[in-house]
Amino acid sequence: MNKPAPMTGRLITVEGIEGVGKSTNLAFVAGELQGAGHDVLLTREPGGTPLGERIRELLLQPGNEIVPMAELLLLFAARAAHVETVILPALQSGRWVVCDRFTDASHAYQGGGRGIPGATIDALDQLVTGGLRPDLSLLLDVPLEVSAERQSGRGDRDRFEREAGPFFRRVRARYLELAQAQPGRIRVINAARSLPEVQAEIRRVLQESLFR
Ligand code: TMP
Repeated sequence: MNKPAPMTGRLITVEGIEGVGKSTNLAFVAGELQGAGHDVLLTREPGGTPLGERIRELLLQPGNEIVPMAELLLLFAARAAHVETVILPALQSGRWVVCDRFTDASHAYQGGGRGIPGATIDALDQLVTGGLRPDLSLLLDVPLEVSAERQSGRGDRDRFEREAGPFFRRVRARYLELAQAQPGRIRVINAARSLPEVQAEIRRVLQESLFR
């Protein structure tokens, strides 16, 4: 068997419930890393490949009835394609991959939100990604009320955004549990503050964790 090529790039993920400012801050993270001279690939889950983007449409389309296990398997099907054809090749060629959500989201949404046991998700993770862990995950965190307030007035809610408050309470709680269990990798950013304050903290965390 060929030895896998050594990984030289880094994998950075951004996580959080809805309305935490993920898109703006993803662009900020990518810009900071580019500014430090890295070759950055910005990608997302579910998505990042033609198959993944089609699975994303299925998952986000309101009205699609998808039982929790099918939801989890669709997410991991998209992840299989993404890891094998995009993320690993990029890391092996030395690129820094910034990914909008990854396996932590499956633990938070399908584990915390839908009630699928963590051991089931871990088993799929091993099978599909070999337990690939980001070098750094930024968990943008806001209280439920702030998330709801930022979401209010937005039409066009997708299948997940249509879930009720208790669902997001469980998702947020699971994210925070994951961060507590892996404090070195998952850094909680208080995203309820002003954007300049949030970005100053993100910059500090990037410097501490990645540019040492
Ligand atoms: P987003 O692009 O707005 O983050 O939308 C993606 C949605 O997919 C979001 O509501 C969270 C959900 N999701 C999961 O439920 N599990 C996962 O593993 C991933 C990657 C995303």
